[in-house]
Amino acid sequence: MPAAGLGLRLGGGLPKALRELGDVPMLVHALRSLLAAPGVGAAVVAAPPDGVADVRGLLARELGADAPVTVVAGGATRQESVSLALAALDGDCPVVLVHDAARPFVPVGVVEAVVAAVESGAPAVVPALPVVDTVKEVAAEDGAERVVRTVDRASLRAVQTPQGFRRDVLAAAHAAAAPGGDTTDDAGMVERMGVAVTVVPGSEEAFKVTRPFDLLLAEALLAKRRA
Ligand code: C5P
Repeated sequence: MPAAGLGLRLGGGLPKALRELGDVPMLVHALRSLLAAPGVGAAVVAAPPDGVADVRGLLARELGADAPVTVVAGGATRQESVSLALAALDGDCPVVLVHDAARPFVPVGVVEAVVAAVESGAPAVVPALPVVDTVKEVAAEDGAERVVRTVDRASLRAVQTPQGFRRDVLAAAHAAAAPGGDTTDDAGMVERMGVAVTVVPGSEEAFKVTRPFDLLLAEALLAKRRA
């Protein structure tokens, strides 16, 4: 679980994963969502490098000292954070999920669908939703933007996490990627190796908390779930 981002687009000063939703840090919600899936046995969190001890303490308090969670220092980019977490995985786990701490409310059903697809033989799996807005490609022209073309949205998908992989496939993709790279999508790295990526249905509840408006949505969803 990459959780080392600063969350500059969100504002507020704290690393994004530590921002609270309903008095509980986003990272804790995200871990609870993942660990609620029977197919998930353990998690490795890539924490902000200067906050590893604090995150360990937080997770021990919130999830219990026995929770199957390891915390390592993340990196300067999401790609680096995922690589560092992968390197800390222990021996026996042929299926690996990569899940953004910034998607705190992914439903168990989505997590299980991703795990099941990898276990049934898919080397890489992404949950995704159809795109609801019309999408246009634009180009800069004289300081303004001009539409180049309208993309056929019927074949477009917005991709979420957790993305699931055969561990050897994900490790090979990270080994082949430029160190210090800034790929924000693990499945994209696997695609570049020519490996097929399978799509399963995502969920609106798996949205990513990125901008201040997303905090409102997250608080509303949490209040509804707690009601
Ligand atoms: O910024 P964005 O929302 O795209 O980040 C996606 C996820 O990647 C977040 O959970 C964030 O904490 C994580 N990340 C990371 N290390 C970085 C940058 C982002 O673990 N250096």
